[in-house]
Amino acid sequence: MIERELPLVTWHGGKVSHTERQTLLRQSPMTIWLTGLSASGKSTLAFALERELMNRARACYVLDGDNVRHGLNRDLGFLAADRAENIRRIAEVARLMNDAGLIVIAAFISPYRSDRAVARNIIGAEYVREVYVNTPLAVCEARDPKGLYRKARASKIADFTGVSSPYEPPEQPDLTIDTAQYSVEDTVARLLAVMHMERNLMCREPMPLN
Ligand SMILES: Nc1ncnc2c1ncn2[C@@H]1O[C@H](COP(=O)(O)OP(=O)(O)OP(=O)(O)O)[C@@H](O)[C@H]1O
Ligand SMILES: [Mg+2]
Repeated sequence: MIERELPLVTWHGGKVSHTERQTLLRQSPMTIWLTGLSASGKSTLAFALERELMNRARACYVLDGDNVRHGLNRDLGFLAADRAENIRRIAEVARLMNDAGLIVIAAFISPYRSDRAVARNIIGAEYVREVYVNTPLAVCEARDPKGLYRKARASKIADFTGVSSPYEPPEQPDLTIDTAQYSVEDTVARLLAVMHMERNLMCREPMPLN
């Protein structure tokens, strides 16, 4: 892990290298960052990808927007400053997990380009694959699995992305997905391709699916 300069605290280095950790897990860590509107399909895809990676014996973990707000970020709201802090903390966790050798799948609306840039900087650009889950707002709103759009339209939720708060699409995502056009299975296959799992030389052979 890269040491960072701070005035009053000194980095205490360990005795285990990043390469050793990668060798132990026999994989190259990375962070797949899924960004998109609420109900675009981020969590559905994240957990489907995690299942598929686990079937292939990869050590992976999903950081999910709703789940992180149950614990680590339970003190944060949805105003721009809180969203920025939400993403910053998640990025720090993803960085630690990547350092430990894990593949991280991050599923966060992360509507602001500047917040995503901060995350990329914290995690390290070479570890990040940015995936834009670009499902049309009308489709997301029709799905409304948590009833949030209905509440937002009735002004019962403030600062709701796509309704009363902006969403800034990525300018150069590694992959763009419209889940109105592709099934979960097709999308997971495209995610695996973006991750170059077939070229991930440190990975063991995929385990047979049963
Ligand atoms: N091809 C698809 N890919 C992903 N989700 C799909 C697809 N087709 C339909 N869906 C449905 O769309 C909904 C997506 O909801 P999901 O909770 O995954 O969205 P989300 O982006 O995580 O939203 P939030 O930001 O509110 O957490 C689910 O009900 C899922 O079953
Ligand atoms: Mg979700």
